[in-house]
Amino acid sequence: MKLSVIGCGYLGAVHAAAMAELGHDVIGIDIDRARIDELSVGNAPFFEPGLPEILASATASGRLRFSTRMEDAAGSQVHFIAVGTPQKKGSYAADLTYVNGAVRDLIPFLGEGDLVVGKSTVPVGTAETLATMLAAAGTGAILAWNPEFLREGFAVKDTISPDRLVYGLPASQTAAATAKTLLDEIYSSALDAGTPVIVTDYATAELVKVSANAFLATKISFINAMAEIAEVTGADVTQLADAIGLDARIGRRFLGAGVGFGGGCLPKDIRAFTARAEELGRGESVAFLKEVDAINLRRRQRAVDLTVEALGGSVFGKKVAVLGLAFKPYSDDVRDSPALDVAVQLRGLGARVVATDPHAIANARKLHPQLDYAEKLEDALADADIVVLVTEWEQFRHLDAVWAGGLVKNRIIVDGRNCLDAAAFRASGWTYRGLGRP
Ligand code: UDX
Repeated sequence: MKLSVIGCGYLGAVHAAAMAELGHDVIGIDIDRARIDELSVGNAPFFEPGLPEILASATASGRLRFSTRMEDAAGSQVHFIAVGTPQKKGSYAADLTYVNGAVRDLIPFLGEGDLVVGKSTVPVGTAETLATMLAAAGTGAILAWNPEFLREGFAVKDTISPDRLVYGLPASQTAAATAKTLLDEIYSSALDAGTPVIVTDYATAELVKVSANAFLATKISFINAMAEIAEVTGADVTQLADAIGLDARIGRRFLGAGVGFGGGCLPKDIRAFTARAEELGRGESVAFLKEVDAINLRRRQRAVDLTVEALGGSVFGKKVAVLGLAFKPYSDDVRDSPALDVAVQLRGLGARVVATDPHAIANARKLHPQLDYAEKLEDALADADIVVLVTEWEQFRHLDAVWAGGLVKNRIIVDGRNCLDAAAFRASGWTYRGLGRP
C-alpha cells in the first residue's frame, strides 16, 4: 500500500521504516530539513537497536522515501499522523499545535476515501475534533485512531510485532468498515501472526494509550512508595517486589524500584491526563497521578541524599562517578531522565561529576555542558570518591566489584537501579547502598 507518515521524530521514523520493511511504499514527511536529509540516506537520527538496518535496506530499495514537502503525501491511500504532543510550557496540558497543524496542512492533499490515522498520544476528545475538521473541509477522508505502544529500545520489534492493535473507528458504519479494511491490510503480517485487535470508538482508543501509560507509571511509583517505607523499617524492597510479583495478578514487571521513570512519554503523559481530566470535570478520578508524579520525583532526590549521606554529609569537591545518563538502557534519550537529573543535582551541590553512558553522552552534553563526561567507564571510575549507578546498562549491571574497586579512591556505591549484586560488592570491601534496601 502507499502510505505517508507525517512527523519523523521517534515514533514516525520508526513507523515509516517498519511499514516499509513490511513491504509498503512509504513517504515520511517532516519539516526538519536536517533530519530528512539524514533519513533519506538511511541514517537513523537517534540510537535505536535494529533501526539502522531496516532504514538502510528500505531506503536503498526505494520503498521508503523522505521529504519536507507535505504535497508529497498526495497519492498515498493512508496517512499516519505521528507528530509530537509535548507538554505545554507552564502547564501540564499537551500541546496540540503540531497535531492540528499536520492535519490542517494535509487537508489540501487528501483524496476522497483516503484514511488519516492518528498515532500520536493525545488528550481524549482530540480525534473527534480532527474528524470534524476533515469533514468541514469537505475532504471525504476518514479518520481512525490507532495508538502506538512502542517502547524505546524495542521500538522496531514493538512496531512490527505489537502486543495488540487498537482501532478507534468513526461512528458511521460504512466509514468504519472502510477504515478497518485498510488497517487490516496494513497490519496483515501482525494479524496473520495472531495479534489481538480491539475495534472501538475514538475516545476509547485515545484513552487506552494514556491509561496504559498511567498504569505503568503507577506500578513503578507504587513500588517506589514501598521503597520509602522499606527505608524506615529496614525492609528490602527488591525482595518485597519478588514476593508480591509472584502473584500472577500483580506480576514482577515494572516493579523495579529505583530512581524512577523518565523519558518522553510516561512523565508528560500522566501530567497531560491529569490536565485533561480536570478540563472534563473529573480531576478527582486521576488525582492519584499527582502522587505518582511526586513519588517519582522524590526518588531522584533520595538518590542524591543517599550520595551526600554516604560521603559523610557533603559532596563538595568530591569526584562522583555517575554511571548512566539515558532515561533507560538501550536508548540515547535523556528527556526527563532521572539519571541526568541526579548528575545535575550533584553537580549543583559542588561535586565534580564525571558521567558516563554508552550512547547518551552527546545528548546529555547538549543540555548540560557543565558536567564532565567520560567515554570510558574506567575514566569515570578512576579515583572516584563515590560511584552512583543510575541507568542499568548491561555493562553497569555486570560491573566487576574487584576490578572497579581497584580504580576508585573509595569503595562506596549507590545503586540507583537496585541492579547490582549487593553481597558481591560488600564481599569486596564496598559500602553498598541501594534504594529501599537496608
Ligand atoms: C513507555 C511505555 O512502556 C510504552 O508502551 C509507551 O508507548 C511509551 O512509554 P518508554 O518510555 O520507552 O515506553 O519506556 P519504559 O520501558 O516503559 O520505561 C519507562 C521508564 O520507567 C524508564 O525510565 C525506566 O527506567 C522506568 N522503569 C521501568 C522503572 O523505574 N522501573 C521499572 O520496573 C520499569
